[in-house]
Parts: sequence; structure tokens; C-alpha cells
Amino acid sequence: MNRPVLEGLRLNTPAYVKHDRLIAWVADIAALTEAADVYWCDGSDEEYRRLTEQLVAAGTLLKLNPELRPSSFLARSDPSDVARVEDRTFICSAKQEDAGPTNNWMAPAEMRALLQTGDQALFKGAMRGRTLYVVPFSMGPLGSHIAHVGIELTDSPYVAVSMRVMTRMGRQVFDVLGSDGAFVPCVHTVGAPLQAGQADVAWPCNKTKYIVHYPETREIWSYGSGYGGNALLGKKCFALRIASTMGREQGWLAEHMLILGVTNPQGRKYHVAAAFPSACGKTNFSMLVPPAGFKGWKVTTIGDDIAWIKPGADGRLYAINPEAGYFGVAPGTNDHTNPNCMASLKRDVIFTNVALTDDGDVWWEGMTDTPPAHLIDWQGRDWTPALAKETGSKAAHPNARFTVAATNNPVLDGDWDNADGVAIDAFIFGGRRSTTVPLVTEARNWTEGVYMAATMGSETTAAAAGQQGVVRRDPFAMLPFMGYNMADYFQHWLQLGAKLQGQGAALPRIYCVNWFRKGADGKFVWPGYGDNMRVLEWMLGRIEGRSQGADNVFGVSPRYEDLRWDGLAFTREQFATVIGIDKAAWQQELKLHAELFKQLEHGLPAELPATMQRIDARLAAG
Ligand code: OXD
Ligand code: MN
Repeated sequence: MNRPVLEGLRLNTPAYVKHDRLIAWVADIAALTEAADVYWCDGSDEEYRRLTEQLVAAGTLLKLNPELRPSSFLARSDPSDVARVEDRTFICSAKQEDAGPTNNWMAPAEMRALLQTGDQALFKGAMRGRTLYVVPFSMGPLGSHIAHVGIELTDSPYVAVSMRVMTRMGRQVFDVLGSDGAFVPCVHTVGAPLQAGQADVAWPCNKTKYIVHYPETREIWSYGSGYGGNALLGKKCFALRIASTMGREQGWLAEHMLILGVTNPQGRKYHVAAAFPSACGKTNFSMLVPPAGFKGWKVTTIGDDIAWIKPGADGRLYAINPEAGYFGVAPGTNDHTNPNCMASLKRDVIFTNVALTDDGDVWWEGMTDTPPAHLIDWQGRDWTPALAKETGSKAAHPNARFTVAATNNPVLDGDWDNADGVAIDAFIFGGRRSTTVPLVTEARNWTEGVYMAATMGSETTAAAAGQQGVVRRDPFAMLPFMGYNMADYFQHWLQLGAKLQGQGAALPRIYCVNWFRKGADGKFVWPGYGDNMRVLEWMLGRIEGRSQGADNVFGVSPRYEDLRWDGLAFTREQFATVIGIDKAAWQQELKLHAELFKQLEHGLPAELPATMQRIDARLAAG
């Protein structure tokens, strides 16, 4: 191999790394980026302590009051680097049609010239003056047949410590890899090289950003951002975009789904995987506390964001959570919306872009009804409730996050780390719709369920889109996370279902939910949170053949008497508001489904428009 000479740079490869191809790749990237040093992460406690201390000294992390929030830190990002950048995210498949109409695409050679090979290539010299951290990680339990390994090369120690929380990270990954194991190469730079003697900033990043995936070679290249899904490459980039393409080739599913264990009072345990778009309460649902009337029911968390699901020898679908931590949105989280999450955040947390209290703890909008009298906001400025009233300024950024290990969760499922995964009994797909979509509907068959998932949507909020109530279609909650053509993905789901059914397997039931219908007063009608247990109980009752329901144009929904109402004053009228199917609204809705299908017509499975026509005919007849 014709490799550039590494002038004066030692690779520092530990003796336990036996993988020549991996070592050669690290050398290549160190040469390309002109990193000042190479450090191989071992994932130990001592290393975490050392790196967080180094980050405190650099001003990237602030140590929180150890009495109030032990072993916890606050990071404040650059104000321009606060969220995933979907418009800078690319799927660089060889053919544009393989990326499909919902992804940004650039030809691989063109992108490689921009990033790696051209005279002005962005990665050339991008790590000058910085250490390149080699971060070995397993997505899923180490050695699990459902898990896969990635290696992230990053010049951000914040990313290295966050990856330790979010994944199984450390030297044991090299034991899994051996001398020739497969890994997904992930290259990340904040894009802020340091000249000799140049002082660093607390949150280095670059205005130019590229989050790039090459599905054919399973590579990830990320430039310019240090934040969340742009930089912690195991999460959205690997576990969803690259893994979805692997799943398509290998016959499995990589999904934007939480995974729950639900145990009934008789001790029978079910597993449910649920897809919701971002900002629809996934973390809350994954840690749900059943209401007081549900004695003996237990809900436990396997995952809060991503599921990898593979068919087992018995034809059932087995899921793991590929992650090992939660990177959740802090604002809105409190002892009512998610007490288990609040308990998870008591210690060992890296917070990013929340507010700092005068006694060295954290606060965010929605944490308490009354805000503290004074805070330092997410940009390091003084903040008071009076100022907020006057200017509307938020103490925490609306996308402020916590990064915390799953093992902090008091309701963590005993099987969360089970290498064989858990057998899925039901899939749930939920959007955020103030009208039209009922509280819960069961698909009558797999195709009807795939249709529900393919057409799900969410209303944008005023803050996000400037226009409230616009429905953005978000098929399977995967719109920003699909690694290939969305229409081919629908086909993959249909084919997998048909194959398993052909083997005589009972497929998981599929449900569509909507917690967000509003009444005439513009307020949410359904109480949500723990009361979603009432809907879960109905679903599991359906699986057991106990719960009744009534057919509608779309599937089967419960009648008022089919749900349990102990401990909740919820009238028949209120129930009608959240469950009803309005003919005119559905006729309008189907026009939007048709628009989606038009956009995805290249490769769209015929079963989907055919299902739409059947719903239309039922509506017309009703
Ligand atoms: C997330 C998201 O951060 O979906 O999980 O945006
Ligand atoms: Mn997510």
C-alpha cells in the first residue's frame, strides 16, 4: 500500500491491537488530517476521569456541584452548533436513485474530492495541533450476533467521553475484532486545526459541516460539528443510516425505535418496539410509570431510541438496543413527565446546553414550575425569569441534552444487555397529529401495518418551521435517518414480513398511535405519559385475544368500554374526540398519502397504493 510517511508521528498502537488493516487505516487518517498525536481509548474508569479532567481544564466541561450532582458535568456548545444538521447530511451511494428522493446525495468521487483528495480537501490537515482519539465501540452487547463494531477516529475528547457513555467502548472491542474482524470506519473532526501556539476555544467547530455516509463501503465521515448525532457517530450515522443498508442486504431491520418490556400482573412479559419522530416523547414512553390503578404491571426499558431487529431461527423477530446510554432532550423532563429519567440523571451525567444554577446544579425549562431567581443560561449569560418574560430568552437551549449510561435507569430491563435480544410482540408507530389520526388503531395485517408506518406524519411546531400545523411525513420516523431509498425500505419491510409468514411465524402486531389530538380549546385531550399504559394494556389484550375493538376504515380501534379507566376521569365524549375518524379529514389525509407515494414512486411497492385505495373505498362506502 502506498501510504504517506508519518513524519515524526507515533501511532502509539497498544500491543493488544492485532488488526493490521485497522492500524493501517488509523495511520492513513492521522497522515491525512496531520494529527499531532494519536491516543487509543481503552474505555477504563481511569481514562474517563483523566479525559473529563482535561476537558474541565480546557473549559469545555464545567464540573457541577458534587454534592448536588455527583460526577457530572456541563458543556456549552458554540451557539452555531446545537443540533443535527439534516441539510448537511449526505448519502453518497454510487447511484443517486439508491439514496432516493428523501436524502441529500452527491456522487462518491465528488464528495471524496471535497473531503479527502482534492487540493482543498477539508480533512487535509483538519486535526493539526490536535490529538486523534481512536474510539473502539460495539453497537450492541459485545460479541452478540446482532451487534456490530465501529471505530471512530475523532479529534474531540468530548466525543470520546460521550462515546464511552453511549456505547460499549474500550479495549474489549479489539478482542471481538481479533486480527481481521469487520468494523465500520467512522472519521470525525471538528474542523478547527490549531496553528502552533494558537489557543484553543472551549467548543471548537466549523461553520462548514458535512455528515457523510458511503453505504457501499460502509464509511462515515463527519466534518465541522461537535454536537450529538453529528459527532457521536455510533448513533444516527451508524446505528440507523449505515445499519439500515446492512439490514437490507442481510435481512434484518435497523429502526428508530425504543424497546420496552411490559410485564402483566400474571407475570407474563411482552416486548414492544415503538417508533416516534424526534420530540414526540420517546424517552418518556420508554420509562413509563403505570398509573396507580395498574397494580402488578411493570414497564422496563431496553432502549430509548434505536432497535436492531433480526429474525431468529424460530421465525420471531429479536431486538437489541445497540446503544448503552441515553442522549435525551432535557427541556420538558420533570418528575411528572418522566420520574425514572429524573432519577437516572442524579449523578454521572454529561449535560450539554442546559442552564447552570447559582449553587452549581442544572436547570431547564419545564424542570420545575417556578424557575430559580437567577441562572447562567446555556450561552454563559445571566438569566432571570424577568428577562425571559421581556425577551423570551430560554435558560436552556430547546435541544439541550443529557448523556447518561443506561445503567443509571432505575427501570432498566434485566434483558437490556442480552446478546440474543428480546422477541418483539408488537410494533407501535406514532406521530404528532392534533387531528385526524385516532389514539390507537391495530393493523389487520402486516401490509396494513406497513402502510400505517409508511404514511405517519408529525405536525411541525411554530419554532421549528415558522408555520404551525404543517404535517411533515416521516415514514417509520426514519425520514432523517434512512440510508437508502425509502421506497426500497418499504419493500424490505413487506418482504421480510412475507418471508417470516411463509415460514409459519406469527408476526408481531402493528399499531398506530397518536397521543396528541387536541380539543376545540386547542388543548391536548389525552393525558398521555403514564396513562399511555391504558393503550398498552389494550394492545397486549388484543395479542392474548382478550381485548375487544371495532373495525374502522383504517384498522381496529377500541371502543370506550374496551379500555380500563380506573383512576382517570375521562368521559365518553373526550374519548370520542381522540378516537373518532372524520370522513372529510381522512379524505384530505389520503390526498397527502397520495402525494407521498408520488414523491416515492420509483420502486414503491404496489401494495401501498392498493391499501390506500381500499381505505378510500371504505370511506366512500361509510
Ligand atoms: C434524537 C433524534 O436525538 O431523534 O434521538 O433527534
Ligand atoms: Mn431519535
